[in-house]
Amino acid sequence: MNLDAFLELLTSRGQAALAMAAELVSRDDPVAAATALRRDHPADLAAAALTQARLRARAQAKFGPDAERMYFTPDGLEQATRPEVAAHRAHRIVAGAARVSVADLCCGIGGDAIELARAGLGVAAVDRDPLTAAVARANVDALGLSALVQVGTAEAGSVDPRRHDVVFLDPARRTSARRVFDPMSYSPPLPDALAMAAAARGACLKVAPGLPYTFVPDGAEAEWVSHRGEVKEAAIWLGDLAGPETAPEGTEWPFLRRATMLPSGMTLTAGPGSSEQIPQIGPPGRFLYEPDGAAIRAHLVADIAASVGGRLLDPRIAYITGDEDVATPWAARYEVAEVMPFSLKRLRAALRERQVGTVTLKKRGSAVDIERLRRDLRLSGENSLTVVLTRIAEKPFALLCTAAAPAKHAASLT
Ligand SMILES: C[S@@+](CC[C@H](N)C(=O)[O-])C[C@H]1O[C@@H](n2cnc3c(N)ncnc32)[C@H](O)[C@@H]1O
Repeated sequence: MNLDAFLELLTSRGQAALAMAAELVSRDDPVAAATALRRDHPADLAAAALTQARLRARAQAKFGPDAERMYFTPDGLEQATRPEVAAHRAHRIVAGAARVSVADLCCGIGGDAIELARAGLGVAAVDRDPLTAAVARANVDALGLSALVQVGTAEAGSVDPRRHDVVFLDPARRTSARRVFDPMSYSPPLPDALAMAAAARGACLKVAPGLPYTFVPDGAEAEWVSHRGEVKEAAIWLGDLAGPETAPEGTEWPFLRRATMLPSGMTLTAGPGSSEQIPQIGPPGRFLYEPDGAAIRAHLVADIAASVGGRLLDPRIAYITGDEDVATPWAARYEVAEVMPFSLKRLRAALRERQVGTVTLKKRGSAVDIERLRRDLRLSGENSLTVVLTRIAEKPFALLCTAAAPAKHAASLT
C-alpha cells in the first residue's frame, strides 16, 4: 500500500470501499471479495480496501474492538505495542509527575501515542516513514484523540528533546525481511536513542526483552513486562522517570531491575542486598515453582525463592523447589508427584501406570524436542499431568507434577 492509496481510503469513496471490503472479508472468499470490490471501485482502491480490511481483522487480537476503527500497515501492526502494555507505561509517566508534553519519536501506527493520550497526556508524535505517520494520524482521528496528539513525518534526531517534558522512543527492531536483535541495528541505533532520551528530564525507551544488560545506562531502571504470563517487552526508564527505588548498592548491578505483571500491575524490584542473595541449591522438594518470565529476565528468581523458603534445582535454571506450603503470585506452583532421571522408556512407563492421556510438557535446560516426545509417549488414559524436563546436577530429569491445591500461606514480596 502506498501513501496515495491510503489517503484515498480516508475519502468518502474510500470509506465506502472499506465498508464493502469488511463485509466481503468476513465471508472468507478472497477471490469473490476482490472481484466484487473491483466491480464497484478502481483496482488500486479495491486492493487497498481489501488489505486494510484484512489487517483490521488480524488486529482484533491485539487491539480488540478499536481495531475496527483503526488503520494499519503490516509492519506497523506487527511492531505496535499491545494497548495493555502501552497503558501501563502511560500511567507510569502520569504518576511520575503531572506532565503535559510527551514526544513520541518513533510513533509507528500510534500504539503508544494513543494510550499516552488516553492517559491525558499531550503527545507530539513523529515517524520518519510518511505512510506510517499518515496511518498514525488517521488512528488518532478515528479514536477521537486529535486534540491531544499531533503527528508529523520527521527523523527522530530532528526533534529537540529538551522542548518536551518526556521523551518516549520505540526504535524499529525489524527490517522488511527480518527481526533485528543487535541493539546497534535498531533504527535509530540504541546508543543514539539513549543519547536523545538522556537530553530530556524523563525518558522511556522500549527495547527487546533479551537486551544485553551492558546497554542499560548506570542509574537507569530496566523494567521487564509480562502480559498473561508471557514476557512482552522491556523498557529503559531514565532521568526522573526511573525509580523511585534505588539499585542495590555495592553489586554488579548499576541499574534498578523491575518485573511487572499485567494485567494485575504487580511489580517487583530487586530488594536491598538482593543480588548478593545466592540462592540455595538442593534436590526436588514437595513443590515446584515456575517463576514469571519478567522476574526471570529481571534476575529476581533468588528473591522469589527466598520468599517461598525455596531453593533452586540447578544454579543456572529458573525452577524453584521447596517443601513449605507457600504460594506466590510470581510463580506457577505445582505439587511434585514423582522425580526420575529422564528416559523415554521410563517416562512412558510411569505415565502408563498413572493412566495419563494428557500431558502439559514444560522444559528448561533440556534439549528434548517436546513435540517429538509427545508423539513418542503414545499416551492414553483418563488422567492429566504436567511433566517438567530439566537438569539437576548436569543430568536430565523428569518431574511429574500436578497443579498444587491452594496454599496455606502467601509469600511476602512487594
Ligand atoms: C517499533 S515501531 C513503533 C511502534 C509504536 N510504538 C506503536 O506502538 O505503534 C518503530 C517506528 O520507528 C520508525 N523509525 C525508525 N527509525 C526512525 C528514525 N530515525 N526517526 C523516526 N522514526 C523512525 C519506523 O518507521 C517505525 O514505524
